[in-house]
Amino acid sequence: MRLAPPSLEDGRHLWRLADEAGLDLNSPYAYLMWCRDFAATSVAAHDSRGELRGFVTGYRRPENPGTYFLWQVAVDPGFRGRRLARLMLDHIAARITADGVTHLEATVTPDNTASRALFASFARERGAPLEWTPLFEHDHFPHVGTDGHEPEELVRIGPLR
Ligand SMILES: CC(C)(COP(=O)(O)OP(=O)(O)OC[C@H]1O[C@@H](n2cnc3c(N)ncnc32)[C@H](O)[C@@H]1OP(=O)(O)O)[C@@H](O)C(=O)NCCC(=O)NCCS
Repeated sequence: MRLAPPSLEDGRHLWRLADEAGLDLNSPYAYLMWCRDFAATSVAAHDSRGELRGFVTGYRRPENPGTYFLWQVAVDPGFRGRRLARLMLDHIAARITADGVTHLEATVTPDNTASRALFASFARERGAPLEWTPLFEHDHFPHVGTDGHEPEELVRIGPLR
């Protein structure tokens, strides 16, 4: 795998992979904007044939630049369970901690076992404290369909070593 900041050429592939991974899908425009403005705090993983197999998007919180907010992480279904997500998180962590970031945040729905295990694994291997608190509740989201959106809990990990 080759890990690097995403380029504009990656934007549409991030959008496709987010869709395939079942993430909250944003507009193609949003992924292009991310590749332009937040490439330094994001990563795209390409296989030896140049196909996008995973990505992480995130940013440093404007009012608290010591905290990195991981917005989306996705791995191609055929490449899961091979530590690609961990590799991408470690890659990002090396980049942002060198730049003064001390904490990583993300939100996860209660039933996302894989994502919870990913953040737990990342924190454990660094010996970093991990804390879960409610953030975006069911009622913060628009009520569409029968069930609406699941709540999103905030995970905060750090200080990172
Ligand atoms: C979450 C996701 C990115 C994990 O990618 P991955 O490359 O398969 O994860 P890794 O192989 O790096 O595994 C990292 C850790 O999570 C654990 N894990 C991964 N998938 C798991 C699963 N389905 N169930 C339980 N544990 C799981 C691994 O065992 C490993 O933990 P360990 O170090 O204690 O052994 C991937 O499942 C995915 O793309 N899911 C859909 C999108 C999504 O939900 N994104 C997160 C939104 S917040």
